[in-house]
Amino acid sequence: MNFEFTEEQLAVRDAAREFAQKELLPGVIERDNEQRFPMEQVKMMGELGFLGMMVDPKYGGGGMDTVSYVLAMEEISKIDASASVCMSVNNSLVCWGIEKYGTEAQKQKYLTKLASGEIWGAFCLSEPEAGSDATSQRTTAEDKGDHYLLNGNKNWITNGSTASVYLVFAQTDREKKHKGINCLIVEKDQDGFVVGKKEDKLGIRGSDTHSLGFTDVIVPKENRLGTEGEGFTIAMKTLNGGRIGIASQALGIASGAYELAINYSKERKAFGKEISQHQGIAFKLAEMATKIEASRLLCLQAAQLKDKKKDFSLQSAMAKLYASETAMYTTIEAVQIHGGYGFVKEYHVERLMRDAKITQIYEGTSEIQKIVISRALLKE
Ligand code: CAA
Repeated sequence: MNFEFTEEQLAVRDAAREFAQKELLPGVIERDNEQRFPMEQVKMMGELGFLGMMVDPKYGGGGMDTVSYVLAMEEISKIDASASVCMSVNNSLVCWGIEKYGTEAQKQKYLTKLASGEIWGAFCLSEPEAGSDATSQRTTAEDKGDHYLLNGNKNWITNGSTASVYLVFAQTDREKKHKGINCLIVEKDQDGFVVGKKEDKLGIRGSDTHSLGFTDVIVPKENRLGTEGEGFTIAMKTLNGGRIGIASQALGIASGAYELAINYSKERKAFGKEISQHQGIAFKLAEMATKIEASRLLCLQAAQLKDKKKDFSLQSAMAKLYASETAMYTTIEAVQIHGGYGFVKEYHVERLMRDAKITQIYEGTSEIQKIVISRALLKE
């Protein structure tokens, strides 16, 4: 593994850092309070190329590598995880899926707009009764010859109300179990498609998480991604890459909280000296920094393997598991180091602590990552 960054990768990281500080930091507390989607800022992210970073430039993307994506995700997540989840879903789940499995017509029609940031998308796998157990899809896509008739409900959908294009997973042939699942590209304004309830969440409150309803939605066959019954494989392979995005988000949340904590500990005095000079605080900082560095190396390892076109599913699950646990640990300690100030909104660390929690849940809970990791280990 080579962890020396190229000039291009460093330029991407610096651009993301500058954007986050200048455009995302102002108003981040208010957006969290009001559960307001960072619309203006996400549009700017699109214009700057952060929504389609790895897509081939011929389809409007940035043509960058996954390492650059990790660096950008970390910087943006340090400041606003509600904006970075929109970025992660569009890059890793929606653009990647269409670029990898889409027909040329699908790429021209959808990917070009998604990758250039003109619009963004949503990935609709979870259902009221199919979260971790993703093969149990109840949503149906009945084969009607030249089209599918889509019926069912999806839950917890990131970008639920602001997306324009939705990748919807649905069961066509129940007898074939997961081999009977299809992935359909659905547009927002299609008849029978309703954006439902907005979730009132613990964290990433600026992100628009909705339930979705589909009643007799007619989806033409040309909108199926991949071959008949390939939907579940598409979901799993897409999530392998998505987990690098969420691991990097967790890394950013952790490193953002750590930076705030170390700065505060050097300013705040107690018992006649800066609190960083007390071993109780210094040891917390040492542990936070070590776990963050380990998370960063795991993210970069998974990203490099992906860039080298090698199997990275084990490493992305390890990165997601470890970075999300680190985000939770680090943000709790950052609040503790801030004492009473950590418990109020103005100091940012309480928001980071609330935002950290979802990284242990979405795109596969920590328990699911352990299933993926242990199965890979025991297979060898
Ligand atoms: N990569 C590639 N293929 C995989 C895979 C992986 N990581 N994991 C499973 N598969 C394949 C298997 O090889 C198998 O294929 P074959 O039948 O062709 O051999 C098929 O998928 C079924 O796998 P299993 O038999 O292992 O199925 P299972 O039911 O025992 O377990 C699971 C599957 C891994 C637990 C899966 O259900 C899973 O990943 N669940 C978590 C779902 C998830 O991450 N949801 C996130 C929602 S999206 C989201 O959060 C986005 C957002 O908004 C932020």
